[in-house]
Amino acid sequence: MRRPVLAANWKMNNGPTAARAFIAAFTARWTPHDDRTVIFFPPAVALTTVVHALGGRRDLDVGVQNIWTEDKGAFTGENSAPMSKDAGARYALVGHSERRHVFGETEAQTAQKCAAAVRGGIIPILCVGELLAQREAGTTNDIVLRQLEVGLSELSPDAIASMAIAYEPVWAIGTGKTATPSDASTVHGAIRSALDKRLGKSSGDVPILYGGSVNAGNAKSLLSTPGIDGLLVGGASLDVEGWAAICDT
Ligand code: 13P
Repeated sequence: MRRPVLAANWKMNNGPTAARAFIAAFTARWTPHDDRTVIFFPPAVALTTVVHALGGRRDLDVGVQNIWTEDKGAFTGENSAPMSKDAGARYALVGHSERRHVFGETEAQTAQKCAAAVRGGIIPILCVGELLAQREAGTTNDIVLRQLEVGLSELSPDAIASMAIAYEPVWAIGTGKTATPSDASTVHGAIRSALDKRLGKSSGDVPILYGGSVNAGNAKSLLSTPGIDGLLVGGASLDVEGWAAICDT
């Protein structure tokens, strides 16, 4: 059975000083559980700080929020997969809605970034999700499945079988509006079927996370919804006690 994945996307919060204090408080509060995977996605400048602050705790993992498509070179401001791995990242978010909608990341780039992650020895977590207008127009599945198909287009079946997907409806991110368990379940089911089809066999080892206004109050019902294998949490992962409560769920 897949282990539930609880992932904290700190976005542009917690530089090295705040990150060190957060991890110190969190590791003191949260005792190791070997039945779930907990991953921190700090800003890139705090990645090594978090790795060191975790002090080798094997129950807690680290990832980067974004990587560039190339391994090195003249790409001012960007970080590559090999560099992120060298800094201690095991995972990379790819195609987060803020990358797509604030920074104009294209679907083709999400495919290149997934490929770059795998090439660099990092596990991609491909994020997909529809805008409110797309949901209202009834095109949610079309949008999400297209993002999935393009994002995975440069990956081998083996690479897909060892990655993760996150469904984050854009209208639910940072808004306090969460998809209903039944809405989320429908989309997760569609993603699961598409993954099975793409692999030509069960994609059972690929966790599909839900993200969008998750908090300690709704984490339990989301995690017990069929098809939801984990949570990708923004705002509520910035509070030690709140995040620990979600990880305890
Ligand atoms: P919120 O939990 O703040 O809605 O953010 C979700 C998200 O974008 C996680 O990647």
